[in-house]
Amino acid sequence: MTTQSSPETRADQPVLTVPEGPRHARIHGVGGYRPERVVTNEEVCTWIDSSDEWITQRSGIKERRFAREDETVIDMAEAAARDAIAMAGITPDQISVILMATVTHPYQTPAAAPLLAIRLGTNGPAAFDISAACAGYCYGISLANDMVRAGSAEYVLVVGVEKLSDFTDKHDRGTAFIFGDGAGAAVVGPSDFPGIGPTIWGSDGDNWDKIMQKESWTGLRGDMTDPAGGAVEWPNFAMQGQSVFRWAVYSIAPIVDKALAAAGLTAAQLDAFIPHQANMRITDAMIKHIGLPENVPVARDIAETGNTSAASVPLATARMLNEGEAPHGGLALQFGFGAGLVYAAQVVVLP
Ligand code: COA
Repeated sequence: MTTQSSPETRADQPVLTVPEGPRHARIHGVGGYRPERVVTNEEVCTWIDSSDEWITQRSGIKERRFAREDETVIDMAEAAARDAIAMAGITPDQISVILMATVTHPYQTPAAAPLLAIRLGTNGPAAFDISAACAGYCYGISLANDMVRAGSAEYVLVVGVEKLSDFTDKHDRGTAFIFGDGAGAAVVGPSDFPGIGPTIWGSDGDNWDKIMQKESWTGLRGDMTDPAGGAVEWPNFAMQGQSVFRWAVYSIAPIVDKALAAAGLTAAQLDAFIPHQANMRITDAMIKHIGLPENVPVARDIAETGNTSAASVPLATARMLNEGEAPHGGLALQFGFGAGLVYAAQVVVLP
């Protein structure tokens, strides 16, 4: 592909060689990993004053998984990624980019993605992390789609992974019952047909503080000692639950309409609706908003998995495919939203 020289270009200046494009992209494989330990509502109620009935009614959550103390986001990401790579039918050395969506890798830098690249036996791909909380996976799918379409990558591994149990105050009634741990992954690569619809995404920085890391409210998680020799409190996620709930139900529900319209589809043409697993009542309100026909399967993974932030959409997708709830090759509307506040929605063809 050649482009016209700009007025500033020297007459003898060579024209850059760039990839031909755009081409189509699709998701070739997905995978999920759930830690072994099941944490029931009954167990949560030994830390906070609550009940199984209240938690079930207000959130739809019955249980969640917690990673082992020595189990890291890299360990969980590796397990999910291996499944996605196997389903895609490629080898790790074919991956040219790794995007890791996480807000619980305990280092600001270096990123988690280069470590995952080593674990998987890849060939030194570009590797970086995305901080877009519960929208991180859908942000990643959008970036991967653009990279493959534009030719800057062949296969992109997108991973959403969280170890939220490390950053949750077990004694905070507003969050202790919500979060869980896990990982989900997808391989995005070239395709003969359009496999990823336009992403409708954005941010609402006015609500920046509605979900954020704060020092522990109860101080019961112990200290992190800072290099200056003082002690700082371990950060945990704090959330203004009602504000987030209203934002999700009233402000951003119309985003799903826009993602459908951008893909040229109606709700009745979907084979699955896979919203971020934040709260079953938010999911139900969104279903109502888009007028989703009853026969379209809806991800309800939250009941057994809790809210796993960046991992929630790919984990729910893997479950729906594994359990035959959503068809391989079907059309799924996926929608991530969370801390930032940020959001992203797109229709994808399921692998
Ligand atoms: N167990 C029992 N009762 C609880 C409780 C708990 N864990 N937490 C709060 N309550 C009580 C409150 O004290 C209050 O009692 P009162 O009416 O006597 O004062 C009542 O329940 C309602 O509290 P409120 O904070 O208004 O609860 P809620 O209905 O908003 O539900 C959430 C709380 C967190 C379930 C809900 O706000 C929510 O799901 N928000 C969005 C969360 C989300 O999606 N986060 C992730 C986005 S990525």
